[in-house]
Amino acid sequence: MAAIPDVYRLNDPKSFAYSTARSRWPKIIVQSKQDVLAHLKDSDDPQLAKQGEIIVKGIELLLQELKEGASIRSFTDSEVALIPSLQSYNDVLLTLKEKPTWLSGPWLFTECYLYRLLDIIVKSQSKWVNFDIFENLKRETFKSSKLGIIELAIRYKKLSKELKVSTPIESEKLSILFEEFIDISLWGNATDLSLLANATLEDIQSRQGKEAREKSAKNIIDNDLPEAWSRLLSVPFEERRIDFVLDNAGFEFYTDLVLSLFLLDAKLVKNVVFHCKTRPWMVSDTMVKDYKLFLEDMRNTDWFPDHRNELDYFVDSIEHYHNTKQFQLVDSEFWTSALDYWNLKPSETKYGGAELYKYFQDSTLVIVKGDLNYRKLTGDRQWPKTTPFVDAIDQLATSNIHILALRTCKADVCVGLPDGLEEKLIENWKNQGNEVGELWCSSGKWAVISYSSGHFTTN
Ligand code: F6P
Ligand code: MG
Repeated sequence: MAAIPDVYRLNDPKSFAYSTARSRWPKIIVQSKQDVLAHLKDSDDPQLAKQGEIIVKGIELLLQELKEGASIRSFTDSEVALIPSLQSYNDVLLTLKEKPTWLSGPWLFTECYLYRLLDIIVKSQSKWVNFDIFENLKRETFKSSKLGIIELAIRYKKLSKELKVSTPIESEKLSILFEEFIDISLWGNATDLSLLANATLEDIQSRQGKEAREKSAKNIIDNDLPEAWSRLLSVPFEERRIDFVLDNAGFEFYTDLVLSLFLLDAKLVKNVVFHCKTRPWMVSDTMVKDYKLFLEDMRNTDWFPDHRNELDYFVDSIEHYHNTKQFQLVDSEFWTSALDYWNLKPSETKYGGAELYKYFQDSTLVIVKGDLNYRKLTGDRQWPKTTPFVDAIDQLATSNIHILALRTCKADVCVGLPDGLEEKLIENWKNQGNEVGELWCSSGKWAVISYSSGHFTTN
């Protein structure tokens, strides 16, 4: 087997990491500071105000250090005492040969560290422990996704009624529907807030809806969906459970729910479990509490005055499955630890990896959503793009975990491409007037659907 390649780094001008650290992160940090200030202004609690000022100072210092390319510090003992999983970052820092800086460190590690640092700056203040620094942004963007939300609610209600009356539905038709709803959930990942930091309402809406999806079908550059479909059907119905390792709240979460409702209504699966983050993460990621807010927002007749019938039908359906426990939400510290997903293994007993490994042994399919999760699956390493997916996920390839990654490409790492395709994509991106052809891979315009059965053998 070939040597494992190095990770992507923040000082490589051909990597999306380069502009991420220099331009995207500062914007995200400034935006979060503004949200703290807004929360502060809304409150008349003097202690909260005083603590809020400390948070603002912490964020300003972080911004300054980032711009200067300062070295990253370990988390202090008192920070680790407050949130023990921060120790995972200190563990990794000890293993790195060079002390990482904000402008030259390993991209994946440094990006995860950034969100944990922001989190501890906030959580170190007792009055702010439940404050989600990105909540405003998540909800506001969901509100702007009105057209896409309504279009899907109409589609879902019509189909759900059909599924309830016509029994049984031929497997061929179900497989076409499966493809359609996977597609919805896949392209739902294109509207991620950390990437669309400057997006207009039109930008967001242009990425949602049937028309946008149809245009993008040819942009799925690795597609293992038929294998995932076979896997689904191979498990007896009573044992069929799908796990989603979730990505973003808002519109993407809604598309994941649409896919789940289809699977449950069509009796393709018995249970669905959503795995959420335990803290604000990568701006838009989903926490368990975001589900409650989602229901509230969907019911908000000021935000969504039209098509109430379809929207209420959607909410009632998901609540029904939540009440029967066929739909559940859980969370784990593992997802926001410093560890990549090669650590989903029995020996990772410190941060939740072993527990999740065990839990996924009974899963029919673990659908891993989005870009950051894909980077953690592949170690965010500089794999040749023709590397088979199973070769890039280390021991997960033999873990007995059936993984289906649904990801629009928003970073440099990408595997599973046929010979010659990468060269064409680079050329094509340059021909569109972009200076660095390699950056096609972080434009969010292409996507992969990659499967591993967890039973890889070389024979
Ligand atoms: O830098 C690329 C990026 O914005 C990272 O922050 C992260 O990998 C990702 O894209 C966020 O996207 P997603 O929500 O799909 O994980
Ligand atoms: Mg995300």
